[in-house]
Amino acid sequence: MINVIGLGYIGLPTALMLASHGVEVIGTDYNTELVGKLQAGELTFEEKGLAELFGAAVQKGIRFCSEYQSTDIYIVSVPTPYDKNSKKVDACYVVAAVRSVMEVCPKGATVVIESTIPPGTIDKFIRPVVEANGFICGKDIHLVHAPERIIPGNMVYELEYNSRTIGADDLGIGEKIKAVYSSFCKGDIVVTDIRTAEMTKVVENTFRDINIAFANELAKICRSDDMDVYEIIRIANMHPRVNILTPGPGVGGHCISVDPWFLVGDYPGLANIILAARKINDGMPRFVIHRISQIMKETGLTDVRRVGLYGMTYKENVDDVRESPTLQMLERMEDGLSGGLVQVYDPYVTRKIAPNQHDTFESFLESVDLVVIMVGHDEIKQNMKMLSGKVVFDTRKICDLPGIHRL
Ligand SMILES: NC(=O)c1ccc[n+]([C@@H]2O[C@H](COP(=O)([O-])OP(=O)(O)OC[C@H]3O[C@@H](n4cnc5c(N)ncnc54)[C@H](O)[C@@H]3O)[C@@H](O)[C@H]2O)c1
Repeated sequence: MINVIGLGYIGLPTALMLASHGVEVIGTDYNTELVGKLQAGELTFEEKGLAELFGAAVQKGIRFCSEYQSTDIYIVSVPTPYDKNSKKVDACYVVAAVRSVMEVCPKGATVVIESTIPPGTIDKFIRPVVEANGFICGKDIHLVHAPERIIPGNMVYELEYNSRTIGADDLGIGEKIKAVYSSFCKGDIVVTDIRTAEMTKVVENTFRDINIAFANELAKICRSDDMDVYEIIRIANMHPRVNILTPGPGVGGHCISVDPWFLVGDYPGLANIILAARKINDGMPRFVIHRISQIMKETGLTDVRRVGLYGMTYKENVDDVRESPTLQMLERMEDGLSGGLVQVYDPYVTRKIAPNQHDTFESFLESVDLVVIMVGHDEIKQNMKMLSGKVVFDTRKICDLPGIHRL
C-alpha cells in the first residue's frame, strides 16, 4: 500500500493515477475540508481528464483521510516555497510531513519526496528527522527523491507520458520505486543518486525561467526602440538552432517563479544569470502597468476604472492563481494605476479574490474600455469578436484584431 501525503495539484493526480492502475493507495492531507470533499466524490480543482481519472481510482478503491497510515511506501507531495529573504528553500512542510510519517511508519519503509527541493535538502533536512526518530537511513528507512515534471492543464497526459527521474541512495531501492511509477508511466525513468535528482529538477525549471526572461528582455528592448519583437523572434527562429520563446506579462505558478530562487539562495555569487532572469521576469507585471499607462495616453483613455484585466491565473485554462502576474499587478499601486480600481475577470476563478471581480465575460466587457489580455484562456480565444470596439492590449500574442497593442 502507498500513502500519498499532500493531495494538492501534484499529490492528488499522482494518487489517482497509481490507484487507477491497480496500486492500493490511501491519500492523506491535513486539510480536513479538502479530504471531506474528496471523500464525498468532489474534485478540489479543475484539470483536463481529472474527473475521469478520479472515477477510475474510486472504482479501484482509493481512500482519502487526514491520518497518516502505517505502510511500506510514502509519497510526500507538500509545498516547498522559498524564504523571501534568504531565497533558500523553506523546507518546513516537507520536514513536518516526514516527521509525521516517522511516527507511524514501520522499519523498512521507503519515503519518496516528490516535492521540488534543491540539492542537499534531503541530506540537510530530511535525514536528521529520520535519525532523530531512532532510525538509520539506508537500513531502517530508505529515502528517495522522485520530482514531478507535469504541467497544469495537461497533467493527466503528462503523468503517463513524461520521462521521470528517481534519486536514491541505494540503486536497488531506486529500481523498486521505478517499478511503482512504471505501473502508470510509459516514459523513460532514470535512476540516479539523490543530489543529482534534486539538482536536475531545479535546473529544468531554471532553464525555462532564463529562456522566458530572454524573450521578455527582448520585448523591452524592442519597445524602447520601436521594433516589433514578435516579428523579430519569428524571423530569428527560422535559424535552425534558434528557438526564442514568446514574451509575456511575467511568470507565475508554484514552479518556474520559485525554483530558480533556490539556486540563488544556495549559490550566491555563482547564480548570476539565474538571478538576472528572476529579476527580469518579476519585473514584467510592472512593465505591463507601464504599457497600460502608455496605451491610455495614446488612445485618450483617462478612467482607470474602465481598464479591465482579463485572466487572473498564472497560465491558460487552469484555476491556479499562485504568484500570477495579474495578482502581482493588482498589488502594485504605481504609475497612476490603482489595483483597487481596475476591473478583473477570469472564467476559472469563481471565488472572490480581488476587488471589482466580475462573474461573467459579458459584465466584464460592459465595464471596460481597455481590455488587457493577461491569460490566453480558450474562452477569450474563442470569443475574440466580442472585443471589437474595445482598446485591446494583448500581452500573450493571441489576438489579431486590427489596432491591437502589444508588449
Ligand atoms: N503545481 C505544479 O505545477 C507542480 C509541478 C511540479 C512540481 N511541483 C511541486 O510539487 C510540490 C507540491 O506542489 P502542489 O502544487 O501540489 O502544492 P499544493 O499546495 O497544491 O498541495 C499541497 C498539499 O499538501 C498538503 N499538506 C501540506 N503539509 C502537509 C502535511 N504536513 N501533511 C499532510 N498534508 C500536508 C496541503 O494541505 C495541500 O493540500 C511542490 O514542491 C511543488 O514545487 C508542483
